[in-house]
Amino acid sequence: MELHGKIAVVTGAASGLGLATCKQLAAAGALIAGFDRDEKKLQALKSDLGDACLTRVVDVADETSVKDGIAAIVAAFGGVHVAVNCAGVADAAKTVSKGEPFPIATWNKVIGINLTGTFNIIRFAALAMSKNTPDADGGERGVIVNTASGAASQGQIGQAAYSASKAGVIGLTLPVARDLAPQGIRVVSIAPGLFDTAMVAGMPDNVSQSIIDRMILYPNRMGQPREFARLVQHIVENSYLNATTLNLDAGARMQAR
Ligand SMILES: NC(=O)c1ccc[n+]([C@@H]2O[C@H](COP(=O)([O-])OP(=O)(O)OC[C@H]3O[C@@H](n4cnc5c(N)ncnc54)[C@H](O)[C@@H]3O)[C@@H](O)[C@H]2O)c1
Repeated sequence: MELHGKIAVVTGAASGLGLATCKQLAAAGALIAGFDRDEKKLQALKSDLGDACLTRVVDVADETSVKDGIAAIVAAFGGVHVAVNCAGVADAAKTVSKGEPFPIATWNKVIGINLTGTFNIIRFAALAMSKNTPDADGGERGVIVNTASGAASQGQIGQAAYSASKAGVIGLTLPVARDLAPQGIRVVSIAPGLFDTAMVAGMPDNVSQSIIDRMILYPNRMGQPREFARLVQHIVENSYLNATTLNLDAGARMQAR
């Protein structure tokens, strides 16, 4: 799908991978709808991108918030062609720690945002996409990109909820792509390794450095958000990519800690 003049919704738009994706897709000529729950940081995105961008406080875990957010894009811009799911949290806990089981509130929060939140955007964005006029070139109506993680299959200590949520994102990629193929909508997920964002800045320095030194094959550094964003652009533009999860991780193989 050609990006110029298309309408792209990006969640987690205020920071990290989502923010870089907004800038990349805007530079390619798309109109951007940035969703996040961080209103202050959304204002910075709006001042950066100006009229080519609308921003809105949306909690992806909340069905009504997502439904209203997608309706606001259709009202303002006339439709949705691209949806990129980047909103996510990485709250960690051990299955049993200090005589207590994994807090179920933490489990529900991580699954609610990373997995249910991703599916909320998919459901309502796909409904809007299904009303698009098919592209003259190939009949496409939309493209959905989800963010999984290497943790889906190589989760570290403390990542039970996070890994389960991201394995869920990979798991839904094929059936959702099958559901939406008749409407001309493609679905692709990206499984990033370690990227230089606020999420990773929250880790102790020795933990992220240990991942770089011991677990990343080459190049021995964190990924840059723009490298993720460039892959999102490629997925949108390359119509033969569908129903798959792409690793973007410099060959990382995560260990237990
Ligand atoms: N950074 C990494 O190394 C890495 C690796 C693998 C996967 N990921 C995934 O990439 C995605 C983006 O993460 P990031 O590294 O850019 O982190 P980040 O913390 O910089 O950005 C995440 C954004 O999501 C927003 N968000 C959180 N909960 C939300 C909600 N309920 N509704 C709307 N917005 C919400 C936050 O406000 C924040 O702006 C996440 O899904 C994360 O799990 C990141």
